[in-house]
Order: sequence, then C-alpha cells, then structure tokens
Amino acid sequence: MSKKQDDDLDYETTGHEWDGIKEYNKPLPRWWLWTFYATIVWAVLYTIAYPAWPGIKAATPGLLGYSTRAEVADEITRFEDANSDINMQLASVELTEISQDPDLNQYAQNAGGAVFRTWCAQCHGSGAAGAKGYPNLLDDDWLWGGDIEAIHHTIAHGIRNEEDMDARWSQMPAYGELFEEQEIAQVVNYVMSLSGEPQDASMADAGETLFMDNCAACHMEDGTGDRWQGAPNLTDAIWLYGGDYDTLVETVTYSRFGVMPPWTERLSEAEIRAVATYVHALGGGEAPAE
Ligand code: HEC
Ligand code: HEC
Repeated sequence: MSKKQDDDLDYETTGHEWDGIKEYNKPLPRWWLWTFYATIVWAVLYTIAYPAWPGIKAATPGLLGYSTRAEVADEITRFEDANSDINMQLASVELTEISQDPDLNQYAQNAGGAVFRTWCAQCHGSGAAGAKGYPNLLDDDWLWGGDIEAIHHTIAHGIRNEEDMDARWSQMPAYGELFEEQEIAQVVNYVMSLSGEPQDASMADAGETLFMDNCAACHMEDGTGDRWQGAPNLTDAIWLYGGDYDTLVETVTYSRFGVMPPWTERLSEAEIRAVATYVHALGGGEAPAE
C-alpha cells in the first residue's frame, strides 16, 4: 500500500495547517445538517406546545393544555358513564338476585375480581387462599357466615375496627391473665383432641372441664364455633392461626383480635356488592338462610 499524499489528491482543504498536517474541508452532508436543524426547531416548538420545562411546583403547561392526568380522568369518566346503568342495577337489586341474572352476575364477577386484586389481595392473598390470621376465602369454612348477605355485611362494615359502628365484633379473653400455665396446657390438649390431633389424654381430660366452663360460651360445647361471635370451629382442623401445640398455647395465652377495615367509605355499594358476589362464588358460598 502506498501512502497517499494530500498533494496527490485533489481535496480541498480549509487552509489550516499544523506542522505540515492539513485539514480537509469535509462539511457534513446537507441532508444531515437540515435534519439536525429540523429536530432543533421541532424540539423548541414541542416544549412550547406541550408540558416540558420542569418548574418548582409543576412543569410549564404548554399552549395546547395537554395533560396525561386529564386524559386518565377522562378515560375513567368514560368507563363510569358506560357502566353507570349496570352499576345502578347492581346496587339496587336484592343481593340474592345478582347471581340469578347472567349478565349482572358476569359483570359483578369481573368488577369484583378487579376490586379484590386492588383492595383485598394484600391481606387475603391474590388467589384468596389467605395466610396466618387472614382467612382463606376459597373454602366453605366461614367465621362470620358464608351466604351472600353475611359476606356483604362483613365486607361493608369490616371486623373489630373502631371506624364502623356495625363492624363485626367479639373478643376472646387472653387466658394468660386468667389461667395457670398448667391449665392452658390442659385446655390446649383438649382443643387438639377436638380435631383428632395427637395429644396427652389425661391432660385433655382435665382440659375438658376448663373448656366447658370458659370456652364453650363462644366455641360451643362441641367446639364447632359460633358465627354470631366469629368464634372459629375448633373441630375441623382448619386453622386461622395454627393448630400445633405452640401456636395454640400462644392463641389461648394472648388471644388474637383479627381486624379488617370497613369498606363503605372507600368503595361504592356497587363495588362492595361486586366483590361480595366474587367472594361468594370462589367456592365456599352458601345458599341464603331461610
Ligand atoms: C388489612 C387486612 C385485610 C384487608 C385489606 C381485607 N381483609 Fe378481609 N379479613 C381480614 C381479617 C384479619 C379477617 C378475619 C378476622 C377475624 O378473625 O374474624 C378477614 C375476614 C374476611 C371475611 C370473613 C371470612 C369468614 O370466614 O367469615 C371476608 C368475607 C373478607 N375478609 C373479605 C374481604 C374482602 C372482600 C376484602 C377487600 C374488599 C378484604 N376482606 C380486605 C383482613 C383483611
Ligand atoms: C368471647 C368469646 C370467646 C371465648 C370465651 C373463647 N374464644 Fe377462642 N376465639 C374467639 C374468637 C372470636 C376467635 C377468633 C380469633 C380472633 O380473635 O381473631 C377465637 C379463636 C380461637 C382459637 C384460634 C383458632 C384458629 O383457627 O387458629 C383457638 C385455638 C381458641 N379460640 C381457643 C379458645 C379456648 C381454648 C378458649 C377457652 C379457654 C376460648 N377460645 C375462649 C372467641 C372466644
């Protein structure tokens, strides 16, 4: 390869020269340059027309008055308008009639699923299977009742909260203050016997009297619980907090007091009915009480 001398070539130079090194005159292609200018003009016009320059409280609004917030608000209003008829119907029919009307039921299921994922899943789990202290809503084991009216009441007013006068309410005493440790051990052994868990039979015998005297008022003599007081069934081996010995001792010693917020302030009646319909259909929903 031979080294090319600029003298050999017919290139134009800018006339600049340093130590024999000359600068070729190679301007940017025209098309490139004009595109570049065009983008600058576009950018300036854009920042005038649309929100752009950040300020202390807000960005410059732009002459067109465009805002993504307003666009979302419009969209929400549009959806609300489109659904207002069916929401009104949902909020006014008898609760038991919702599932009888296929269109209304379909709408309630979809809307209720969305409400559940937004407002309930953080406590009850996205699949509604619950967690320790947060009941599984998929099974047919209900603390407070599993027909649509009962579910609706629980959701609307919540449980053991101070905000709603109609909240479900009950309070199991903390037996750590009432019983000797030995007595707690005895009554826990008796509770374990109710669901057929292995336990110490002589301890359980002693615990039975304690149970009848202290616990049966809420959990019933046969241990099957009482929905008026949200007292769990202790015979079905479905545990809200846990059925192993240590957890039971903890529950009986300190008691629990599970709280659920009321939803009447946060959700519309149609949304509460939608999510009640959704929960009722999850698997454990019961027929209305006669
Ligand atoms: C902050 C946590 C929390 C949120 C959020 C929450 N729940 Fe609950 N929920 C609970 C607790 C705790 C209980 C059980 C309380 C008890 O011990 O009785 C419960 C109980 C229930 C029950 C009664 C179950 C039964 O066996 O009787 C239903 C139904 C229910 N929740 C539905 C919902 C729905 C629907 C939502 C959303 C709109 C929701 N929950 C949101 C905590 C929550
Ligand atoms: C005033 C009514 C009341 C009395 C009395 C009562 N309980 Fe409870 N018990 C409840 C309620 C309500 C719950 C639901 C837990 C909560 O407070 O969130 C519960 C929960 C429990 C649980 C938890 C069940 C689970 O699924 O995890 C156990 C175990 C239990 N009670 C045992 C007892 C024993 C043993 C006694 C007597 C020494 C007793 N309870 C007396 C109302 C009562």
